Amino acid sequence: MNILLLGSGGREHAMAWRLQQSEALHKLYIAPGNAGTSELGVNLPVDVTDFEQIRHNIIEKDVQMVVVGPEQPLVDGIADFFLNDPLLQSIPVIGPTAAGARLEGSKAFAKAFMQRHQIPTARYIEVDSDNLESGLEFLRLMQPPYVLKADGLAAGKGVLIIDDLTEAEKELQLMLSGKFGLASRKVVVEEYLTGIELSAFIITDGIHYKMLPSAKDYKRIGISDTGPNTGGMGAVSPVPFGDKTFLEKVEEQIVVPTINGLRSEGILYKGFLFFGLMNVKGQPFLIEYNVRLGDPEAECILPRITTDFVELLQSTATGELNSLKLQTDDHAAVTVMLVSDGYPGEYTKGKQITGLETLTNCVAFHAGTSIDIETGTLKTNGGRVIAVTAMGYGIEEAKWLAMQNAQKIQFEGAYYRTDIADDLLNYSSL
Ligand code: AMP
Ligand code: GLY
Repeated sequence: MNILLLGSGGREHAMAWRLQQSEALHKLYIAPGNAGTSELGVNLPVDVTDFEQIRHNIIEKDVQMVVVGPEQPLVDGIADFFLNDPLLQSIPVIGPTAAGARLEGSKAFAKAFMQRHQIPTARYIEVDSDNLESGLEFLRLMQPPYVLKADGLAAGKGVLIIDDLTEAEKELQLMLSGKFGLASRKVVVEEYLTGIELSAFIITDGIHYKMLPSAKDYKRIGISDTGPNTGGMGAVSPVPFGDKTFLEKVEEQIVVPTINGLRSEGILYKGFLFFGLMNVKGQPFLIEYNVRLGDPEAECILPRITTDFVELLQSTATGELNSLKLQTDDHAAVTVMLVSDGYPGEYTKGKQITGLETLTNCVAFHAGTSIDIETGTLKTNGGRVIAVTAMGYGIEEAKWLAMQNAQKIQFEGAYYRTDIADDLLNYSSL
């Protein structure tokens, strides 16, 4: 089978790596990909939101399945574009239709969906310029800190957590008047939940689903969760505080109502679904949906999913996930992300990367990398540059191996968090 994978991050390199290990794969194309994916397939210089170019390449290269990494093409309706095109109709897209992608594309839609289906989540109010007073009133009733979320996609920056009431009131008004452009013309104001966060993942064919390994990600740039938020500096899987009992509650109270809710609302969803959860004293609350795998969570969980990846996706496309047995590896996995100097602010690019050939007992997934056409050397080309994932008999061993290898990768200004997984070591029962 010929497959086209859309995206260019560490998540897509990890997906390409798993796809390439399947005997069912014939040719792999990645659009646009990175230096890592170019070693596993053919990179196509096509933007993930340029559906006409994607269509052209699919027909020309006889692609039989499309796998979508990031959310933007899903929110823009790539699955619907295929379903409405006579030549593309029969080619499965792994990823939901635009209606399903609203679970990530609109926080207000996601919260209303959770409420309609009795899914545990933080109390909230949806605010726009017509009911600002009710929004301010709600804020005054809440205890600090205050949580304000832009309704639409805002490049991961649309959530504000503010300690001071006056500042929260001011920020709410700024958001409504366009602080995040159109994305914040509507705002979700919600109750702050205190607990420990983890990410759960499923793959669904719209009727059946498989629970994938869960993970914890490390969002802040600095040691001990300090400094600004990033796309993710590392991940650990499995998560000790997301044990069997907790995950059963997640399945029963969150996953099943979500799948049933999508079906009852006539929303076609075939693909990955990411549940951002808060464990509040043993009870799961859903903070958000993402309609894709996480990054760097994908780099951490895909090495633990040993089922043939093409087969897993094919069963998803054909609605036969129930007949597939998901196989996972019991080892713990730790992922550490090497980032460019300045990230998550303005960062440097074009720095030569060395040391990858010296790595042992780990996998390195490229995120922001490219090959310099003139010299053929590997260079940095993004904020997050390379994710190193190692596996071990427990979190401690996996962490040690990941760090040993991360320090062998060199580029000017390279930085990574050395404390990934440290908070979980005492929890570890592996
Ligand atoms: P989101 O984009 O919705 O995942 O929000 C970004 C981050 O803000 C989450 O990963 C949480 O760390 C935090 N957050 C969002 N909503 C809440 C909430 N209701 N209570 C506590 N923390 C939250
Ligand atoms: N690591 C969080 C995300 O992918 O949204």
